[in-house]
Amino acid sequence: MDRSNKPSPITASGTGPQPSVRVENGRANARLPTGDSVDVLLYGATVVSWKSNGKENLWVSEAAKLDGSKPVRGGIPVVFPCFGPPPKDHATGKLPQHGFGRNSNWEYLGSSSSESGSLARGGDDSIKLDFGLSHAQLSEEAKKQWPYAFGLVYSVTLGKDGLQTMLNVTNQGKEMFEFQMLLHSYFRVDDVTRCSVNGLGSTTYIDKVLDAKEHQQSTPELRITGEVDRVYKSIKQDTTSIVQDGKSRLDVQRDRLVDSVVWNPWIEKAKGMGDFEPKDGYKNMVCVEVGAVDGWQKLEPGETFEGGQILKSHL
Ligand code: BG6
Repeated sequence: MDRSNKPSPITASGTGPQPSVRVENGRANARLPTGDSVDVLLYGATVVSWKSNGKENLWVSEAAKLDGSKPVRGGIPVVFPCFGPPPKDHATGKLPQHGFGRNSNWEYLGSSSSESGSLARGGDDSIKLDFGLSHAQLSEEAKKQWPYAFGLVYSVTLGKDGLQTMLNVTNQGKEMFEFQMLLHSYFRVDDVTRCSVNGLGSTTYIDKVLDAKEHQQSTPELRITGEVDRVYKSIKQDTTSIVQDGKSRLDVQRDRLVDSVVWNPWIEKAKGMGDFEPKDGYKNMVCVEVGAVDGWQKLEPGETFEGGQILKSHL
């Protein structure tokens, strides 16, 4: 993997509480003096905790495997290079559902105080953690299933005003490849039936629960009153918001990504997932997942793609 963009380490400046970064036991943790923090497993580069003022924003199943034996049920798994079960006649066709990004061991590339990106205010206000994955790091099985020379850098930036997660994909090989990507965020809510997902109005979506066909979102808000599995395509609005009891709970701002999946398994699907606990945990979560999943992103040799999200919590 090209390490030329490896960030420089955080240097302490000034007096008083400093931001801190700890990397141990396969996990990176960054903390700001404000009490905001983020935890990222090297397994899948999965963000498993993001706290604002000490309060958790993400939902992680109590039965989630955090030992690298299967993708984490909760947090923010990285879906790459295919979303859902890949079409058998596509180059990704031998890969498992959602690809290998979420169940590969990523490398920790380092941390820096971020001076670029919209969260940055300079100095001690934000910390960026970088993670890398390339073809050479894949399991032998995944290498055979998708034999392309790719390089991923996933940057997780913790700021006082939110969390930014950006995926950078580079084609380091000699032939074009196609991919999809998705940041599969599970957000924690008090009661999903008192929530709506706003900012999807006038958008076309595939309803995977109803008939796998296209529909049009007619209202500006989507209420979750049963199983939801929708792929919204080419969304015009920049921001999708989770609103609880009429108050903004969390904003998901897209950065160079125009698709979003909204998912809640509800009662029956939650019962069928061995790693979903408690079984009524579906009431306390909703997935709003930004990505590029409508068709395929083509990347020629030497080209780079970048896309991600900026999350703002109103806790
Ligand atoms: C969502 C998909 O992104 O992920 C759903 O739209 C899928 O169809 C869900 O059920 C969870 O997938 P998995 O592989 O983590 O169980």
